[in-house]
Amino acid sequence: MCGIFGYTGGKQAQNLVIQGLKHLEYRGYDSSGVAIQNGAKAIHFEKTQGKIRNLEEILKKHPLQGKTAIGHTRWATHGTPNDLNAHPHLDNHSQIAVVHNGIIENYFDLKQNLKKHGARFRSETDTEVIVHLVAKYYKGNLENAVRRALKDIRGTYAIAVICSKEPGKIVAARLDSPLVVGIGREENFLASDVSALLDHTDRVIYVENGEVITLSDRAVSITDLSGKPVKRVPVKIQWTITQAKKGGYPHFMIKEIFEQPEILTAILRERIQKSKIIFEELKISAAELKSVKRIVIIACGTAYHAGLVGKYILEEFTNIPVWVDTSSEFRYRDPKVGKGDLVIAISQSGETADTLAGIREAKMKKALTLTICNVLGSTMSREAKGVIYTHAGPEIAVASTKAYTAQLATLYLLGLYLGNFLKTLPEKRFHALVKELFRVPSMMQKVLDQYKKEEKDWAAKAHDFNKRYHAQLEKYYKADPEKRKRSPNGFFLYLGRGINYPNALEGALKLKEISYIPAEGYPAGEMKHGPIALIDENPWVICLAPQSKTYEKMISNIQEIKARGGMVIPVVTEGDKEIYKLKPFYTIEIPKVSEILSPLVAVLPLQLIAYCVAKEFGEDIDQPRNLAKSVTVE
Ligand code: AGP
Repeated sequence: MCGIFGYTGGKQAQNLVIQGLKHLEYRGYDSSGVAIQNGAKAIHFEKTQGKIRNLEEILKKHPLQGKTAIGHTRWATHGTPNDLNAHPHLDNHSQIAVVHNGIIENYFDLKQNLKKHGARFRSETDTEVIVHLVAKYYKGNLENAVRRALKDIRGTYAIAVICSKEPGKIVAARLDSPLVVGIGREENFLASDVSALLDHTDRVIYVENGEVITLSDRAVSITDLSGKPVKRVPVKIQWTITQAKKGGYPHFMIKEIFEQPEILTAILRERIQKSKIIFEELKISAAELKSVKRIVIIACGTAYHAGLVGKYILEEFTNIPVWVDTSSEFRYRDPKVGKGDLVIAISQSGETADTLAGIREAKMKKALTLTICNVLGSTMSREAKGVIYTHAGPEIAVASTKAYTAQLATLYLLGLYLGNFLKTLPEKRFHALVKELFRVPSMMQKVLDQYKKEEKDWAAKAHDFNKRYHAQLEKYYKADPEKRKRSPNGFFLYLGRGINYPNALEGALKLKEISYIPAEGYPAGEMKHGPIALIDENPWVICLAPQSKTYEKMISNIQEIKARGGMVIPVVTEGDKEIYKLKPFYTIEIPKVSEILSPLVAVLPLQLIAYCVAKEFGEDIDQPRNLAKSVTVE
C-alpha cells in the first residue's frame, strides 16, 4: 500500500522520481506527489489526486529543478484521496517534507498535542504528524530529528524525509513497511520495492525494521534507532528490467499470463535435479520436518486459493492433515497452533500485513514457520523460520496470475519433497509425477496458443456478454424502475469440484477484481443448496469439468443449469465428446492431465476469461479501482 521513491545524485531528480513512482503505481494510485530540494529556503513540491499521469501533466507546466527528491504514490487509508491528502506533507515553513507508507496508530493524540504547539495541519492524514514531529525536534541535524520523532510514533512506516537546510540528504526509516536502498555510482536511490530500482542498479540493501538510513550521492549510512551504526553488505538482485516491462503486450496482466509456461519450466529445472527435489534456501532441518504432525496454511486472496489447492496436494502426498485459513481470520482468533505444527504462509509480496502477523502469532506459539513467497528479502522471508522462493519474477499487474501458478508449482514440489522424505509417497508415483510435471508447461502453452488462435472468438463472446448484460439491465429496469435501487441481474458463477474448486474461487476473484462484475466461486456440489436459485438465462456459468473422479457429477450439475436456461461455459479435457451433447454456450478444451496436476492448466482459461471481459468492458486492467498490489495495512 503506497509506494515511495527517493533519489539523490548528480542528475535532475524530477523525472527519475516520476519514473520510479510509475513502477510502484501498482501499490496504490489514489494520488501522487513529489518534493524537491533546490537550494532555496523552502522545499518545492507538487501533488495531485489520481494517477501519476495527472502529476506528470502538472510537472510539464511547472517543472521542479533539483537533484535530491522524494516521491509518493498513495493508496488512501486516512482521509479521502484528494490533493490535500496526497503526499508529500510539509511542516509550517515548508522546510521539511515527508512521504510515508504505513499507518500511524496514535496520530490523533499526537495531532492534538502538536496543534497546541503551533503545528498547522493541512490534511486529514495520519502521515502529517510525522513532518510536524520532525520539525519540532529539528535542531540542525535531520537524522537526529527523525530518530527522535520515531520514538513518539506507534504504528507502521517506511518514510523518506528531506530538509531544505541539508542539501543532498535523504533520511529514511522503516518499521513493518518495505523499503529498499539502491546503490548507484555517485547517486543513491530508495524505493518500496526493487522493481523501481531495476532501471538504475542491481545492488540493493533491504532496510530492516528499526533502521534509519541517511543517503547522499556518495554515501549510505545505516544506524539503529539509538544511533548505533549497523553494518550491511549490499546484495545483487537477479530480476531484470525487461521482466518489469510490458514487452509489447498491451497489459502486464496478459504478459504475465503468457509467461507462465516459461516460469514453470524454470522452477522445475531449478528445483528438480537428478530426480531429487532441492530447496537450497529452506533452512528447516530434517528432524524438524519429521516432527510435523499438522500443517496449517495461511494466506490472503489468490495466495489463499493456492493454499486451498495445497491442502489437496499435501494431504495426498504426505498423509499429514492440512488446515487452510485466511490470514486475517487466523491471526484474530487465538489459533490453536504450537509445537508439532508447520505453519506455511503463502504470499507473492511477502509483505501482506495479515499474513505477516499470522507468522508472528505462529512463532510466538512455538509452531514451525515457513513462507512460500516471491519477493526476495521480503519481510516474511526474513521472519519465518524457513523460506521457499517461488521465482515468478516481478508481478506488476494487480491481479495475480503467474504468482498463483508459481505458488502451485512450489506446493507440488514441497508435497513431492515431503512425501519422498517421509516415505508416504511411493517411489513409482513420485517419479511419474515428476515426469508429468515437466510436461505441464507445454500443456499450458497449448492452452495459450489455442487462445491466440481463437482470440477474436473470445473477444466476440465477451462482446456478446457485454451486450446481453446491458440489454438485460435495461429490460430489468424498464419492467420495474424501482429495481434500479437493487443490484443488477448479470453475474458470473464459477463451479468446480475437488482440487479444482479453489480454481473456481480464483476465477471468480480474477473477474471481480478487474471487471467489477459480480462473480461467485462455488463447489459444484453445493449448487442445489442455494446458488441454483440464481440461474436463469443471464449468468455465465463457468464449469471446471476436466476428467476427474467427479466428472460425472459435474456433468449432472451442468445438466441442472441447462435445464434452467443457464449459459454454460465448460472447461473440459480435449477429446471430451459428452460435453457437446449438452450444447454449451462455449466450450474450452485443455490438454489431458492427471487430476492432481490439473489446477495448473485449468486456471489459465479462467485468467483469460477475466482478461477478455475486462478488456471488452474497457476497464483499467493492470490497476483496478480501490485495489493495491500488496496490502501492508490490516
Ligand atoms: C490477487 O489477484 C489479489 N490482487 C490479492 O488477492 C492478493 O493475492 C492478496 O492481496 C495477497 O497478496 P500477497 O500474495 O502479496 O500476500
